[in-house]
Formats: sequence, C-alpha cells, structure tokens
Amino acid sequence: MNLKKKYVHFDHSPIGGALGAVVTGIDLSEDLEPLVIAEIRSALNEYLVLLFRDQNLTLSAHRKFAEHFGNLIPHPYVHGVQEDLDIFEIVREPGEDYSWDNFYHSDLMFLKKPPMGSALYAKEVPPYGADTEFCNMYLAYESLSDGLKKVVDSLKVVNESGDTTQWSATYGGMHEKNNEEGCAVHPLVRVHPETRRKSLYLSPAFSTRFEGMTKQESAPLMDYLYSHATQSRFGCRLHWQQGSLALWDNRVSLHHAVADYFGEVTAHRRVMRRATIEGEVPIPVG
Ligand code: SIN
Repeated sequence: MNLKKKYVHFDHSPIGGALGAVVTGIDLSEDLEPLVIAEIRSALNEYLVLLFRDQNLTLSAHRKFAEHFGNLIPHPYVHGVQEDLDIFEIVREPGEDYSWDNFYHSDLMFLKKPPMGSALYAKEVPPYGADTEFCNMYLAYESLSDGLKKVVDSLKVVNESGDTTQWSATYGGMHEKNNEEGCAVHPLVRVHPETRRKSLYLSPAFSTRFEGMTKQESAPLMDYLYSHATQSRFGCRLHWQQGSLALWDNRVSLHHAVADYFGEVTAHRRVMRRATIEGEVPIPVG
C-alpha cells in the first residue's frame, strides 16, 4: 500500500500504528489554499496528531495557521504573550524540574466547550528528552467489551480545573492571570462531529467523578479506563526539534509532556508556544 498517494498537497509518514504522522513538504508560514487545509483536516481526522518539522513561525503565522481550524481561545489561567493574548508559552527555565507531566489529559476539559485542538510550536528545546506522548481515545473505546461499552455510553463525567495556580506557580517564566475554578460535565463517550466515531473522554488530571456518583464510587472504573486507554499500544511519542509544530485533535486524544528532566537535560530551557483552538459542546452517544 502506498500511503503517500492519499494526500496530494504533502507527503506523510505514520509515527506509529495507533496514531500520529509526520507531514513534510509544506511550509506553514505561507498562505495555504483551502484545498491544502482540507487535506490537513482529513489527515488530522485520520492520524489525530500531525507533526510538521522545520517550521519558522512568527506569532502571527502561528495564529493564522491555527485559525484555519477555528477561533483561538486564551488559556484561562496562564497569561498570553504580550503581543497576542490568545497564545501562551509553556516555559521551563534551566534548573526547573516541575512540568505539566502529571497525567495524560486533553486540554481544558473543564470548559463547557473544551478545545477541538491545539497547535504547539517548539521554540527552544533540550538536545534530547522532554518529548510529548499521545494516546488514541477512539481505540481505547473501540477495544472495550460490548458489555462495558454499554455501561460507559450512558455515563457523564464531572471535570474540574482544581487549583488554578498549578499551571504557573512553580514556573519562573509563566504567570497566573485568574483564579476562578472551572467545572463542566461531559459525556464519558463523545462522538466526533466529522468522523462520527466514538471515543473515551476522561483524564485523572481533571475528571473527578461520574455524575450522580461519589469520588470513591467512581474511582475503580475511572482508574481502569485510564490505565486501559494509556497502554503503549494505543500511543505514540513525539520528539521535538526547534521549529517543530504539532497539531492535535483534543477531542479524541490525550497527551502529556514527559518529565525526564534529569542532570544535563534539566540545565536546558524548554519553550513551547501554544495556540488553543475553540471546540464545541461534546456530542453524546445516541
Ligand atoms: C500541553 O499539555 O499542552 C503541553 C505539552 C508539552 O509541553 O509537551
């Protein structure tokens, strides 16, 4: 099978069997024709996360590319960069070892309309390490037994931001802007608006309990689903280089930054710039 024939405006090669593709032959700083954007959108639907290497993106080019997929939304708790308040930087200064590597998560799940995607651009990265891992939440759902699918199809999840200082307080280079906690109830299984496939939507980073149940009652099934979803066979790992941009679909994938910051790696700065793309109210099953 020649995978490269499927898209005419760029080449691509899958990163793993579960999700992820590297896209080549495209300069994201150029004016991209609607047909090119339509192909990127279909590749995103197929691979869930796309990695474009060797890009040279000003803030406005980054915004322009991300806006092809929807309006941008600011991070609720981290200040945007001065020139564009909708775009913010995840900065780890040399010597800092804290990171957003707590759990695999989908961005901002505690919003009523959580983002459809994010476009993360690597401005400065260590020579090795500090990768980002992803997992495919379609496969997580589709590989459940029919019995468990019936149970999860009917459940709703309470998603909470928790302590809003967690995103910035321990980073020298990031600044908090708001402390009103967010909370939203979403279906545990959501339907993708374009592919119509079902995926699991939960993460211990934000999902605290099932609606109508206590935390204690919810924990065993939540823990099971999370460890099921984050098996390595459902995942892929992106290695960053300066100028890499990853575009991912937040509705059907989880991700986390790998905090392998030891010794020499900790001595390097890591600066990632993120544009977060507005989504819709998650569509329930049925
Ligand atoms: C994120 O969670 O959006 C950031 C991931 C990363 O810094 O690799």
